[in-house]
Amino acid sequence: MANIIDGKKISAELKQELKEKVAQYKEQGIEICLAVIQVGNDKASSVYVGNKKKACEFVGIKSLSYELPEETTEEELLNLVQELNDRADVNGILVQLPLPKHIDENKVIKAIHPLKDVDGFHPESVGALSIGNKGFISCTPYGIVELLKRTGVEMDGKECVVVGRSNIVGKPMAILMLRENATVTVAHSHTKNLREICKRADILIVAIGKPKFIDDSYVKDGAVVIDVGIHRNEDNKLCGDVDFDKVEPVASAITPVPGGVGPMTIAMLMKNCVNAVDIQKQ
Ligand code: GUN
Repeated sequence: MANIIDGKKISAELKQELKEKVAQYKEQGIEICLAVIQVGNDKASSVYVGNKKKACEFVGIKSLSYELPEETTEEELLNLVQELNDRADVNGILVQLPLPKHIDENKVIKAIHPLKDVDGFHPESVGALSIGNKGFISCTPYGIVELLKRTGVEMDGKECVVVGRSNIVGKPMAILMLRENATVTVAHSHTKNLREICKRADILIVAIGKPKFIDDSYVKDGAVVIDVGIHRNEDNKLCGDVDFDKVEPVASAITPVPGGVGPMTIAMLMKNCVNAVDIQKQ
């Protein structure tokens, strides 16, 4: 029987700690402000953006909301980002992805000042993470490390296999696990012998975007399994990239979907906004 890693509870604890830190900053006259930009009205994005604003309210971070129409031009969006870069009262800028097809996402990500890049997507943030410099860290992988630490999972010297190599999760995840002194393998769609490689893992982190892809045949007895996927199955129920019912009996600890990695992402966005005060001191 695996320990079920409760991301909902751990994220609530973290947000409570951040709320206290934000209150201390307020006493020193420091107010934290996050600008959130959404272009168009993609339904899933609206839910995420709404949750981000709610989290800001709970923690005590001021949020500025920009809901722009689908037809917004790239130039208009870049001008808004520039205006927010220049505002001394704005600590963080978040442009919700995906953007409409006529806007180049990479251009927009690069336009955000690295000192306000609370998503950690800017090439400079990724570079800083790679060489161990101060900077913002992509929220989902950052949240996974926090989950592992707060669950008491030792990472030092462990075999960690990350399945998936996206810029937002897989790649920064691998770098973060290296920073924790794990031995890291990154597997992906071209990897041969995926099952054998996954079976080596003491810590298996799965971010491949395929519902219930990883079953017990991929998992070593006693491994810690982190599931980054989120999908809706035929019965409209949420599930992850891991077949929870098959893997839970062999794992020593596992994140559920929902209630595992998901809630940590927004909590870590709040942590990045709080970290901004320190990062912007440089
Ligand atoms: N869309 C899905 N996840 C994210 C995220 O973490 N940040 C932004 N900006 N957009 C997203």
